[in-house]
Amino acid sequence: MALLSGKTALVTGGGRGIGKAIVLDLAGHGADIIVSDIDETAAQETASLVQGTGRRSLAMKADVSRDQDVDALVKASIEAFGRIDILVNNAGITRDNLLMRMSEQEWDSVLSVNLKGAFLCTRHVVRGMMKQRSGKIINMASVVGVMGNAGQANYAASKAGLIGFTKSAARELASRNIQVNAVAPGFIETDMTGKLPEEVKQNYRTGIPAGRFGTTQDVAGVVLFLSSPASDYVTGQVIHVDGGLLM
Ligand SMILES: NC(=O)c1ccc[n+]([C@@H]2O[C@H](COP(=O)([O-])OP(=O)(O)OC[C@H]3O[C@@H](n4cnc5c(N)ncnc54)[C@H](O)[C@@H]3O)[C@@H](O)[C@H]2O)c1
Repeated sequence: MALLSGKTALVTGGGRGIGKAIVLDLAGHGADIIVSDIDETAAQETASLVQGTGRRSLAMKADVSRDQDVDALVKASIEAFGRIDILVNNAGITRDNLLMRMSEQEWDSVLSVNLKGAFLCTRHVVRGMMKQRSGKIINMASVVGVMGNAGQANYAASKAGLIGFTKSAARELASRNIQVNAVAPGFIETDMTGKLPEEVKQNYRTGIPAGRFGTTQDVAGVVLFLSSPASDYVTGQVIHVDGGLLM
C-alpha cells in the first residue's frame, strides 16, 4: 500500500516551484490533492498532472492572505474529499528592499501572504483535524528566518514569525495527534530565486558546503517525511534543507 493512500493533502502555492514538486511527490505516494494558488492557470496545470498519477485532484484559486478565499477553499476541499489530512502552507512571496527604502506596502504584503496566510489556512483546516484526531501541518519557512538577510527584513521577519507560529501550534495541537513542523529551505532553484543576479547567486553558492543549490525535489522529500506516519512523533521542529548552509 502506498505511504499516503487514503490521505488528502491541501498545498497552497502549489501551481509552481517548490509547491508543485510537493504536490507531485505526495500524489506519487498515494495522496489525493487540492492544489491551491493565486494563479489559477498554474493550479489547474499542476492538478492535471496529478490526475496523470491516478490520484484525484482539485484546483482552487485562492489568495491565502484573504480570509474569505481561505474559508471558501477549505469548504470546497471538504466538500470534494470529505477531509484534509495534510496541510502544506507553502505559498510565499518576496518584496526585497533595503530597510530604509522598504515601503509599508512591501512590508505588509510579505507579512500578509507568508505569515497571516499560514495562520488563516491553519485556523480553517485545524477544526476538521481536531475532530479526526489526526493531522499534519507543514509550514514553509526559510533559513533566512533564522539567520536574517540584508535586503529581506520583511521576508526574514515573516519566516521567523512562521517558526514561532509552528512551535506554538505544535504545542496546542500535540495532544490531538496533530503534528506541526516547519521546513527551512536554503537556496532552492525556482522562479523566486531565478530573478537574482548571477553574481549574488555565485556568492550564495560558495557558502553552501554541499557545493550546489537545492532542487524542489530536495524540499519535497522532507515534506513527504513530515506528511507521513514516519514522523508521527516529530512536532514543533524546523528541518533545514540547505546543503549545510546554516548549521
Ligand atoms: N526558492 C527558495 O530558495 C526558497 C528558499 C526558502 C524558502 N522558500 C519558500 O518556499 C515557498 C515556495 O517558494 P518557491 O521558490 O517555489 O516560489 P515561487 O514564486 O516559484 O512559487 C510560489 C507560489 O506561490 C503562489 N502564491 C504567491 N502568492 C500567493 C497568495 N497570496 N496566495 C496563494 N498562492 C500564492 C505563486 O503563484 C506561486 O505559484 C515560499 O514560501 C518561499 O518563501 C523558497
